[in-house]
Amino acid sequence: MAEQINPWSSTPKMDINRLIADFGIEPFAPVKEKIADQPVFIRRDIVAGHRGYDAVADAIAQKKPFHVLTGFMPSGHPHFGHLMVMKEVVWHIQQGGKGFISMADREAHAVRGLSWEACDRYAREYMECLYALGFSGEIYSQRRNNALKDLAFEAATKVNFSELSAIYGFGPETELAHAVSVSMQVADILYPQLIAGTAPTVVPVGIDQDPHIRLTRDITNALRMFLVEDRGTHISIRVKNAPEGALDAVAKRFGGAKKYEGHIDLPAGHTAEEVDAVVREVEREFGGFGFLLPSATYHSFLQGLQGGKMSSSVPDSLVWFDDPDKDVKKKIMGALTGGRQTLEEQKKLGGEPEKCSIYQLNRFHMQDDDAELAEMCRACRAGELMCGTCKKETLERVRTFLREFKEKRDEVAHMAEW
Ligand code: TRP
Repeated sequence: MAEQINPWSSTPKMDINRLIADFGIEPFAPVKEKIADQPVFIRRDIVAGHRGYDAVADAIAQKKPFHVLTGFMPSGHPHFGHLMVMKEVVWHIQQGGKGFISMADREAHAVRGLSWEACDRYAREYMECLYALGFSGEIYSQRRNNALKDLAFEAATKVNFSELSAIYGFGPETELAHAVSVSMQVADILYPQLIAGTAPTVVPVGIDQDPHIRLTRDITNALRMFLVEDRGTHISIRVKNAPEGALDAVAKRFGGAKKYEGHIDLPAGHTAEEVDAVVREVEREFGGFGFLLPSATYHSFLQGLQGGKMSSSVPDSLVWFDDPDKDVKKKIMGALTGGRQTLEEQKKLGGEPEKCSIYQLNRFHMQDDDAELAEMCRACRAGELMCGTCKKETLERVRTFLREFKEKRDEVAHMAEW
């Protein structure tokens, strides 16, 4: 049986390609072809998997409306490990998406025990970073968002504890607030469609968040009043949970509908997609939501500077955006690389960039120029580029980035308010 993914574990050991196979996540490669102007994280296959991203890729290509939402738990300072998701959100907004960010203060309070005051302090830092990177749209705090809380309650009517325990390993000792924070995240993911209209929604996340995505997609289906299916010869519209009169209202929207008890059949000539769009409209007229299934992209994680995962429990494994320069220098110069034991061996055998945290930092964030990154890789493998030199060059790039990022953050700091 496939292993469980625990979104709250601090040291998940996750091989993205195995998870893609085990959990039915789709590999990104086929949908990549649809994207004309590919950003670094798509070009370099950092985004490795997705669920339902075709709808979003099509919306981008056809300039149709779509939404992008992700969330951050304000339980610590933002750092390089958060940068990828932030860039993904900003890129999607630049492609025409409406942007939303949830500051998951309820999750931080319930799961990590943070005070509300601390949540607000950290949330402000995330907001600054997002605005500095060019975010525009809505950033909200879970606990202050009443529409979100109502939606979370509605979502909670569609999940029971045995499902929660199968998905997250919850047991009798799990606090109720932890379970509530799950329904909050489900509501986050559906929120853009609640307030900005039905449209494809992409949720860029790390692979550890996939259980939430799966649950949300299940709940989205469970919230529907009707099930629309293409049966080849006709389209079937079946009542799942619809108020009186709703089925008749659906039938009225189409010519030639054959009515039966609890379902109607439409003759060929419609696509299931067209029919579903009309049916979702009727659902909204009758007090339902009519949400489209949300999509997600999964990026691989930036390797920690000490080899394993980037984790706040291993302080030297990551650079915080506010780290003093002497710490940045110490962490970069002390990072674990793909270098060999001795200089001599390195010259002879060359380095191993695929194992190197410094190379990965460049590949993710510090070298956007593909030709320069390829040259770095070649020179390393050829034994021409030594780790000391490479680290010094990378350190300078990190310093420049941090300085400019800080300046931009200061400029937008006044926007970081609720
Ligand atoms: N659970 C996420 C984390 O631990 C944060 C989060 C809250 C989130 N709501 C979300 C992520 C909605 C994506 C979409 O980081």
